[in-house]
Amino acid sequence: MVKIPDVRIEPPGPKARKIIQLDKKYVATSTKSTPLVVEKAKGSTVWDSDGNSYIDFSSGVSVMNVGHCHPRVTKAIADQAKLFAHFAGTDYYHELQADLSQRLCRLAPGGCDKKIFLSNSGTESVEAAMKLARWSSHRGQFISFINGFHGRTLGSLSLTASKAVQQERYFPTTPGVTHIPYGYCYRCAYHLEYPSCGIWCAKMIEEVHFDTHLPPEDVAALFLEPVQGEGGYIVPPKEFPQIIAKTCKAHEILLVDDEVQAGIARTGKFWAIDHYDVVPDVVCAAKALGSGVPIGATIFRSELDWKKIGSHSNTFGGNALACAAALTTLDIIDSEKLVLAAEKRGRLLNRRLHEMMEEYPIIGDVRGLGLMQATEFVLDPRTKEPAVEARNKMELLAFKRGLIILGCGISAMRYIPPLTITEKDLDAGADVLESVIRDVSRDIGLK
Ligand SMILES: Cc1ncc(COP(=O)(O)O)c(C=O)c1O
Repeated sequence: MVKIPDVRIEPPGPKARKIIQLDKKYVATSTKSTPLVVEKAKGSTVWDSDGNSYIDFSSGVSVMNVGHCHPRVTKAIADQAKLFAHFAGTDYYHELQADLSQRLCRLAPGGCDKKIFLSNSGTESVEAAMKLARWSSHRGQFISFINGFHGRTLGSLSLTASKAVQQERYFPTTPGVTHIPYGYCYRCAYHLEYPSCGIWCAKMIEEVHFDTHLPPEDVAALFLEPVQGEGGYIVPPKEFPQIIAKTCKAHEILLVDDEVQAGIARTGKFWAIDHYDVVPDVVCAAKALGSGVPIGATIFRSELDWKKIGSHSNTFGGNALACAAALTTLDIIDSEKLVLAAEKRGRLLNRRLHEMMEEYPIIGDVRGLGLMQATEFVLDPRTKEPAVEARNKMELLAFKRGLIILGCGISAMRYIPPLTITEKDLDAGADVLESVIRDVSRDIGLK
């Protein structure tokens, strides 16, 4: 029987080290933290260039929701590549683009008619939402949240407020963005407690900002992650998006739901916003939509559409390979009941994480929806001092023991395996994680 994970050569092994050396010489500095050199991947298993195998709790950052190299996705891409790979979907027509657009518009929350703009990435889906909001409302300003992440191009970067390094030396970005605290109850910006706080963080938009410096008539859109991703896998209380949605509606501000990380079945509902019974005006999706083929989508109420040819466009939006991959991804989510799988397996993982929290005081918080789970590490559960170094050590040690995990926020770790992962592999991954938490805790003098 094949053993997974199976790490026989301490990673990075000799082949991996050579590739890393070449990469370091030629590839621009970005966000790499783990010296994993991937050779192949299948389902929730990844093999490195030295033959070691790993359990994947990262899904290529929430992209491989249907598992690596799903045979139906692989076939759909190969079949389409033999017909035509690309033919500017913004300038011409093809059936896959029309089909995918219809399917996503029907899937998007709310019953009204919708349209879609297809692109290549999360950031581009957000840029399109910003331009659409300004174009349709004739208003210039935006609201987004502290700890939010919406991308790194200069428009979406102006909404992002997750880590200062992402902004350093890029000023000026797009003007007219007000950042406000999110519903992050574990570290409430106002030092209040839920529910006695009355969800002040949501109400203060109306009661402070609109009264003092931000006329609501000037605000085109508010950008909301239904679960904050890069900022720390933060799940707000249910009332938070609901109050925000009411405020937006009252002032005709477009509510843009950024589902780039949390969407496409990840949280145990197709869209994460569905956990809150909120209907947004615009939905941004990307990452898992193409199962590894780059695609972004901005879905919006039809009446908001750019009504002038030339107002917005691109080259690769509606790319045929991406459309084929996305349509097949949606088919797989349906036929393999992956929304339900995310919910059920998420419950298992959440239970394991809570058991670990009972045992190890370094875990200050466990949170998540479906298979979008996280722990926040602290040096002391009372002071909540972030255990940043310990978190970073855990990421590396887990890798050496055969588990791929990824940090987020200041001292949190996210757990986002493919939704197709078996319960056995989920448990095996959780066992590795527990061994790592135990050993790093001991090394730094915590239990
Ligand atoms: C919520 C959210 N929005 C937007 C983006 C940007 O997506 P991309 O990296 O594809 O540009 C990300 C990326 O992590 C994200 O998590």
